[in-house]
Amino acid sequence: MIVSKEPNITQKLEELRKDISSHDYRYYVLDAPIISDHEYDLLFQELLKLEKNYPDLITPDSPSMRVGGAILSEFREVEHAIPMLSLDNIFLPPDLNDFDQRLKRFLQHQKDITYSVEPKLDGLAVELVYEQGILKIGSTRGNGSMGEDITAQLKTVKSIPLRLHNTQQNLTVRGEVFLPINGFKELNRRRREKGEQVFANPRNAAAGSLRQLDPRITAERPLSFYVYGIADSSVTSSSSLTELYDFLKNIGFKINPLILQCKTTKEILDQYNHLQKIRDLLEYEIDGMVIKVDSFGLQQRLGATARAPRWAVAWKFPGIQATTTLKDVIFQVGRTGAVTPVGILEPVSVNGVTVQRATLHNHDEIQRKNLRIGDRVLIQRAGDVIPEIIMPISEQRTGEEIKIKMPSNCPECKHPLERPNKKDKILRCDNPFCPAQRLQSLIHFTGKSGLDIEGLGKKNMELLFNTGLVKEIPDIFKLKEENLAALEGWGEKSAKKAITAIQSAKTLPFATLLRGLGIRFIGEVTAQLLADRFNTPDELLKVSKEELLEIEAVGEQTAEHLIRYFQEDSTPKLFHKLSELGLTITAHEKKKSLLSDRVFLFTGTLGSVSRNEAKQRVKDNDGQVSTSMTRKVTDLVAGKKAGSKLAKATAMEINVLTEEQFLALVSHRPEED
Ligand code: IVH
Repeated sequence: MIVSKEPNITQKLEELRKDISSHDYRYYVLDAPIISDHEYDLLFQELLKLEKNYPDLITPDSPSMRVGGAILSEFREVEHAIPMLSLDNIFLPPDLNDFDQRLKRFLQHQKDITYSVEPKLDGLAVELVYEQGILKIGSTRGNGSMGEDITAQLKTVKSIPLRLHNTQQNLTVRGEVFLPINGFKELNRRRREKGEQVFANPRNAAAGSLRQLDPRITAERPLSFYVYGIADSSVTSSSSLTELYDFLKNIGFKINPLILQCKTTKEILDQYNHLQKIRDLLEYEIDGMVIKVDSFGLQQRLGATARAPRWAVAWKFPGIQATTTLKDVIFQVGRTGAVTPVGILEPVSVNGVTVQRATLHNHDEIQRKNLRIGDRVLIQRAGDVIPEIIMPISEQRTGEEIKIKMPSNCPECKHPLERPNKKDKILRCDNPFCPAQRLQSLIHFTGKSGLDIEGLGKKNMELLFNTGLVKEIPDIFKLKEENLAALEGWGEKSAKKAITAIQSAKTLPFATLLRGLGIRFIGEVTAQLLADRFNTPDELLKVSKEELLEIEAVGEQTAEHLIRYFQEDSTPKLFHKLSELGLTITAHEKKKSLLSDRVFLFTGTLGSVSRNEAKQRVKDNDGQVSTSMTRKVTDLVAGKKAGSKLAKATAMEINVLTEEQFLALVSHRPEED
């Protein structure tokens, strides 16, 4: 009986595989699924059941291969028919010109060369051998001539086609397997929970995932793959990389959308700067750029040395990670009394900047990372943000390291610290006379987020506070030229300038004053909303909680805190003193909405709101939405997989926002310190 059924079963299996493969492709390569996860699961279960009953009918390109399969005892060695070379590096813009000139000379004064300029993915190079359109062998680069057979592991990577579309060709492609940042964070979160060692970066995590003898473990890691070349360009009918990428896309591969054709070194340099700028917005890590001659004809003429092709170079971004020693942990008191641990590091240069401090956020963070004083630590510096300690290098512990203890008293005023509620991770000093809080408040008041008084930056405020010239905000407006000129490092000129700046800061919008006072929960947006509703300090002093709650962005916690602040004796006294010293609130300007004068364009996929919802939020705030990149656009909101619009926006120097930044902008969240 069974025998006569087989032709039908074979056909049914074939159909199921085709169906599932096409859904995999739509989901993992095109990012455009057409069925629900549940419907997909049902199809997959059906396939697994049939294959279980008819194991002889399992094919090497079956989607069931993606779940893992048998545990290996070792990795077999495989030879690369054509060696996998590495790339030479360049470091600076002049190197780029040298490279371009060298190629042009080599090609006997070839005038123009078109380059394919690609993000350099920070993952692992692999080779995939397809025979008659079916994935036969997948391997690591190894030493370039011999790699390790990781076919079973690579088959679990959903964006690697197990069977090529519309072709039964023999083809060997190469590309990069990587772990997207979200997947990396989630993986580390789970490992931390289980008390396992976390991975230092997505690249190590990807390597660790591929080097699993049990491919079912690899299958649980959301690895992805971008193809970036073929072993032998003479087997294709494409005449350039650009054409090849089109072809590879058509037969089922994922191609990085940020690959750009450039015709001049200026264009390449611009793209380098651009990639470096958007680097943090991408969902995967890149560590530089690869510049390749586009034409296969020219590639062949240029050839290769034993180590690397002459037609390509890598241009890495300056490194952002480094290792150093955690020498100490100190506790800093902020203007609202929050006490935060700060790591003091053995000074180390990261990307040209000397780093000697790193934030540690709070005690939970220290415990989660299991940090100790004396540890060797891996640190990272990204953009302008304060450097972070990623993890201790526990292998290098000597046993002399010291556990970090949170203080029970304020390090400045010795007042007992409290953790207002269990959910709050932050320790606070609630002594209103705490000198550290006072100094931080003063620094905030004259600084950029406050009245922005020239000459009264952080260093000078510290000096004024320590010499006793300025103890509280009103003292700033009592300063005289001769007081300042007598200070160390000051002269008559700088004193005069500062006094003029103080004088002109005395006339100010109400919102600026509110913001400058550094009241907890009152950031830029809430200060403006309060000033839109109330015209003077006096009006605010009489406010009721109900009235405050009517204001958008003011919630229960903020309202209660504000009421308490306004009812403290010192608050009306402060306003009174300021007004006596000549502080004048300017007449209220017509209410300006948050986004009037701004035109938004959206690109890429948004994760937590729909496009329409996002556009509505812009309109709710009196902003405008554009559907194409024009000169009127002021802000580009770049979601995941943002492509050419993002490239254009940076070229046009348009403000680029991540989804999170956009949502923070339109949702008027009250700000904390
Ligand atoms: S082409 C012979 N293109 O960078 C040329 N490599 O040493 C082969 N990489 O480990 C490399 N992104 O895995 C090329 N778009 C890209 C790449 C890329 C990352 C890696 C590659 C290799 C290293 C080059």
